[in-house]
Formats: sequence, C-alpha cells, structure tokens
Amino acid sequence: MTLRALLVAALSLTLAWTVQAAEPIVVKFSHVVAPNTPKGMGAEKFKALAERYSGGAVVVEVYPNSTLYKDKEEMEALQLGAVEIIAPSLAKFGPLGLRVFEAFDLPYIFDSYAELHKVTGGPLGARLLASLEPRGIAGLAFWDNGFKSFSANTPIRAPGDLRGKKMRIQSSKVLDAQMRALGALPQVTAFDEVYAALKARVVDGTENPHSNFYTQRMHEVQSHMTLTDHGYLGYAVITNKKFWDGLPGTVREALARAMREATEYTNQIAKAENDKALAAIRTAGTTEVHVPTAEERLAFKKALLPVHAAMAPRIGKDLIDAIYEETG
Ligand code: LMR
Repeated sequence: MTLRALLVAALSLTLAWTVQAAEPIVVKFSHVVAPNTPKGMGAEKFKALAERYSGGAVVVEVYPNSTLYKDKEEMEALQLGAVEIIAPSLAKFGPLGLRVFEAFDLPYIFDSYAELHKVTGGPLGARLLASLEPRGIAGLAFWDNGFKSFSANTPIRAPGDLRGKKMRIQSSKVLDAQMRALGALPQVTAFDEVYAALKARVVDGTENPHSNFYTQRMHEVQSHMTLTDHGYLGYAVITNKKFWDGLPGTVREALARAMREATEYTNQIAKAENDKALAAIRTAGTTEVHVPTAEERLAFKKALLPVHAAMAPRIGKDLIDAIYEETG
C-alpha cells in the first residue's frame, strides 16, 4: 500500500469513528392521546421534521397513549428532565400553580378557531408561554385540538339534563365550576382511565373533542352526545428549559424550525380530524348524536356564562378582559 493510500485509509477510519462517536441526541416526546389525533399526528410530524432538519443529530422518540407517562406524571417527569417534550392540555397546568392557562377552559370564551388563534398567535399567547419559565419550562407552541361536546347515557337537551350526573373532567378548577353550574358532580380522572370509568359507570358522562371520544372508544360506552361546542381543548407544547438551553445552537434552531412547521400542520388538520372522528362516531351507531337547536344552545350558554365572573378571582379579571378584547 502506498503512503497516500495508507493516509486515506487512516483518515476514513478516523472519520467513521467520529461519526459513530457523535451519538444522536434523543428527544423523548410523551403524550396521552392516540397517534391518529391532532396531537398524535403533530408529534409524528415534529419527529420527521426534527430528524430531517438536524441532519440525524437528533432522534425523536414519540410515546403516545400514556405509554411512557400519564397526565400528572408527565409534568413531573418534564421538570425532572426525565422526558424532553410533552404537550399537556391547557386544562392541566393548574396543579403547577399556573392558573392563567385555565382561561382557555372558560365555557364559550371562543366561538371559533379563528378567535382562539388571535390569542394563541398574539402577544397574550407569548406572555402565557413565557410565564412557564420560572417553573423550569420553555413553552414552544400552542397546538389545537377542538371544541367539546357533552356525553352521557341519557339525552342532553337542556342544561338541567346533567344535574346530579357524575361527569369526568380534566384537572381544571374552571371545568369543575362549569360542571357545578350545570348541577353536575365533576370528577377528575386521568385520561387513560376515562374509557374504563365510563364503562364501569364510575362516572356517568364526560366532555371532549370528537377526536378524543372516537380514538378512546368513549362513544362505545356513552349512548348520547350533544354537539354543544361549549368549550375549547388545546395544548401547550413544552420542554425542559435546561435541556433546551443546553442544546447546541444549530440543533436548537433545527428543532425550533421543526416545531414551527409541525404547529402549522397540526393547527391546519385539527378541525378536519375532529370532523372525521364525528363522522366515524355517527357511523358506529352506538351513540345518538344530537345537534342542539338555537334555543337549546342559548340555554347552555346562559347557564354557563356566569362561570367567567365566578372564576375571575382565580384566573385574573385582567386576563379574561384581555381575551375578550383580542377576540373582539
Ligand atoms: C383529556 O384529559 O381529556 C385531554 O386532555 C386529553 C388530551 O391530551 O387531549
């Protein structure tokens, strides 16, 4: 072998070693819903883009369906640095001491995705994400799911139809107040236990966007659903701040770009995915789906709007007023 050939061989060995030695950064993304939901699809989109834009420097492992952490555990795991990215619903930040996120749970505060995006895409949204920093959390984005329906095993035509019913809620004091305003008995249940709780009749009913109803098979154990659109359910995608700040600059930029594009994608498909899920629930035929009349809608609105004033001391009247202003 010539000296040149020897040098080339040595160089390629060194290069191969360097490539091997540079282990990819593993980013665990844990969430509680099914892969075929807006959040599940958003997580997969982020994985594909992050791995591509980082040129293989990052590997994203997506854990759907509470397989890695459940509702409450995922928040703790993120703060401890055991998981890098999670996307809890905005209703689940109260236990962190961040009551402001519960503003999104107020019934009828948003009439449409367009109104909601004025808040999440504007300065108010940025301020809310920044409020996570003292908790060691960096807020990356808001992801949509959709507007909620009520379900039970008896018809729901009027607010009084839920009186006395045990209704599963997420861990939000606003949702607690909302159910009490209907005379119902709210019960916080982890998302992965909802189907079993409904099936065993530990709770009588619940609320969720249709993508969650369908993919968790809640419609199989709920005979009635009413399309009230009474509240919004969406997510903040969050990461451990120490992890995020410690990433090499080029990697962080690649992940931020992937997150921007995954956010655009998720918020584009969310409505269609929920419409598809509702169509699938109708096709399944296990649940009678009621479309409320204008008067029925008004009756729900009248019963639930007082929750805004009742929750103002908890969430902040200024914040609620700022949302009214943004949404016009
Ligand atoms: C729920 O607990 O009903 C939702 O927050 C689940 C989710 O992440 O969409």
